[in-house]
Amino acid sequence: MELLDRIKLQAQSDKKRIVLPEATEERTLRAADEVIAGNIADIILIGDPNVIMQNAKEWKLENIAKATIVDPNQNPKKSQYVDLMLQIRGAKGLTQEQAEILITQPLCLAVMMIKAGDADGEVAGADNSTGDVLRPAFQYVKTKPGVKVVSGAFIMILKDKHFGDNGMMVFADCAVHPNPTAEELAQIAVSTGETTKAITGMEPRIAMLSFSTKGSAKHEMVDKVVEATKIAQQMAPHLQIEGELQADAAIVPGIGAKKAPGSKIAGQANVLVFPTLEVGNIAYKLVQRMAGAEAVGPVLQGMAAPINDLSRGCSMSDIVNLVAITACQAQLA
Ligand code: ACO
Repeated sequence: MELLDRIKLQAQSDKKRIVLPEATEERTLRAADEVIAGNIADIILIGDPNVIMQNAKEWKLENIAKATIVDPNQNPKKSQYVDLMLQIRGAKGLTQEQAEILITQPLCLAVMMIKAGDADGEVAGADNSTGDVLRPAFQYVKTKPGVKVVSGAFIMILKDKHFGDNGMMVFADCAVHPNPTAEELAQIAVSTGETTKAITGMEPRIAMLSFSTKGSAKHEMVDKVVEATKIAQQMAPHLQIEGELQADAAIVPGIGAKKAPGSKIAGQANVLVFPTLEVGNIAYKLVQRMAGAEAVGPVLQGMAAPINDLSRGCSMSDIVNLVAITACQAQLA
């Protein structure tokens, strides 16, 4: 069975409540209709109920009537959420007046619903930038215990089945943290290993990428990856992590054997960890566009609750897929 079909079946087995704060956006509302029809998750829509129902009627989305709709301007739980916001960020200077305005903003309301236990996960970003989706999530939901940095992984489904595990690989960080330190990069590698196991079922073989393989180049940027590899290996001795490797040495067996003889990961990697966001974001988009790969994600990792951000260029089916992944992450939370 294909990965996305397996993920949808898993989501159906224990339905979770996923909040969509961009409910008046067309692809989002169409995806909500499909998620409800497919019994993948219980959907909470944030937006003006009249506009949502009018759009649903116009676009012939018959399942939207089964969603829970929360109007950000007439929310019966407003004062409860405002109190919670003040508990979390009062010490950082948030005032009652500011909180009362923020809670009418759908992206803030969505994370407060999660924080208060009224939703299990969120998918947004079809209509808002990554920063605007992530900032309230960082501020109120925060990271998992023991995790300092949130990052974003893509499950890459390649046409060429020689790479990774039958053409499936995981790339990170492609979405969140621009310039990680060695410690943060190590954390990203460990989180990506865990995401790989949880979402794809693959046993991760993690390559820490650089422009150098095993000392072939000397530079402070290489030193960072070498240091991150050591830290990641100490943090997660149960995971197979190796670096520093160039991309060809990581994924092509003949080149891996030549440049990193004796390595169990060189030439066999199914997880690529990039040294910066710049590299990761450019690499996944090039592989997606030039090699025709399907890029599923980004799956955000390290957040205390599953919150996932879409690219604004996403399709309706990208949203359905990410809702299913978010629901599976919520089952594991
Ligand atoms: N993990 C965990 N917490 C974080 C992270 C992180 N990676 N980054 C910031 N935070 C926290 C901070 O600790 C801070 O918390 P505090 O207010 O409680 O102290 C809070 O978030 C805000 O921190 P800032 O440093 O002010 O963060 P800022 O809002 O400037 O930036 C952001 C965060 C928006 C994620 C920024 O790093 C960013 O823009 N990243 C790039 C996102 C992007 O554009 N990706 C590419 C597109 S996605 C795609 O193509 C699929």
